[in-house]
Amino acid sequence: MRNTILLFAFILLSFSASAGDVFTPGELWLDSDGAIINAHGGGLLYYNNTYYWYGEHKGDRQSPILVGVYSSKDLYTWKNEGAALSMVETDPDHVIARGCNVERPKVIYNEKIKKFVMYFHLELKGQGYNAARVGIATSDKATGPYTFVKSYRPNAGYWPIDMTEEERTSTVKVTDFKDWWTVAWRKATLEGLFNRRDHEGGQMSRDQTVYVDDDGKAYHIFASEENLTLNLAELTDDYLSHTGKYIRIAPGGHNEAPSIFKKDGLYFMVTSGCTGWDPNEGRLFYSNSIWGPWQQQPNPFVGNDEKLSFHSQATYILQVAGKKDAFIYIGDRWIPRNQLDSRYIWLPIQYERGLPVIKWIDKWDLSFFDDSDNQK
Ligand code: DGJ
Repeated sequence: MRNTILLFAFILLSFSASAGDVFTPGELWLDSDGAIINAHGGGLLYYNNTYYWYGEHKGDRQSPILVGVYSSKDLYTWKNEGAALSMVETDPDHVIARGCNVERPKVIYNEKIKKFVMYFHLELKGQGYNAARVGIATSDKATGPYTFVKSYRPNAGYWPIDMTEEERTSTVKVTDFKDWWTVAWRKATLEGLFNRRDHEGGQMSRDQTVYVDDDGKAYHIFASEENLTLNLAELTDDYLSHTGKYIRIAPGGHNEAPSIFKKDGLYFMVTSGCTGWDPNEGRLFYSNSIWGPWQQQPNPFVGNDEKLSFHSQATYILQVAGKKDAFIYIGDRWIPRNQLDSRYIWLPIQYERGLPVIKWIDKWDLSFFDDSDNQK
């Protein structure tokens, strides 16, 4: 009897899991060992004809793994490559000791130092989401293990290049406001209230991504100022630090989950609003220059459930290798009470009137990008 039940469960699992060379957004996605892919809030890297998928390791309290990594040649089948970044278990006071929280890891490769560089959102043990730091780790191998280098709040002592002299020198302080969300508070926020507060200690850095442009320059984009404003900051040539040059995007706009790509010389950014683990309406920004001005456009999700981004939140936009202008939206469908069961939403980016749109497709594969009707 027990065997029959097990067999039944196995058959059910096999049917509901994605199988073969096809993407089935929202379905269970198993790795090449038949285990659930555990790489949430992830980022991808294409290196030496292989894709690497880095993501938060969820749902296993005993495990020291903070970031897991998988590899694939075709984007459909993923091999578990184990731990990319693990907790430091020898020193309970270490910033990545057990109890810390690592989210939204992204990895880029630096030609100059010949190292893979991981950026992640780091929260410290026992401090909830208050630390709001970026963490940096490096490895000689794409699959790691990555060695922790440092963590901090970016751009301490630097003003954003798009902040006016008046905003920089304003004496209006956060403590001047008894209540938040008033008209006066919103205006002050727009005018750099929180950026000034954090000028000396560095800007808050929560949801984040890293982007390498065609010229090899890399940028860190992160939710700052209590998640009210995005920052886009230049990294040094070795990708290990911030240069101090940065802009504020959509001040007071409350954006999380930044993900970015470039098509025909235009930069596009998909973000979400801020509603914790719950989905909300996606946002789209574009700019002719990485340095802005970034202009907001309507929600890029189109179709049923568009107001909830198809129950997902952006984490990365992947350029498919070897196919012109083929980009995949990658989002998380978070299940907070069972994070391991959070699902992955991969959908092809399409275009309408020159702007990216994301439409729901139950099942699709990379040949989608070969049909020019889909790629206008
Ligand atoms: C939304 C963020 O996008 C996630 O990465 C995570 O930080 C949750 N908030 C936590 O509530």
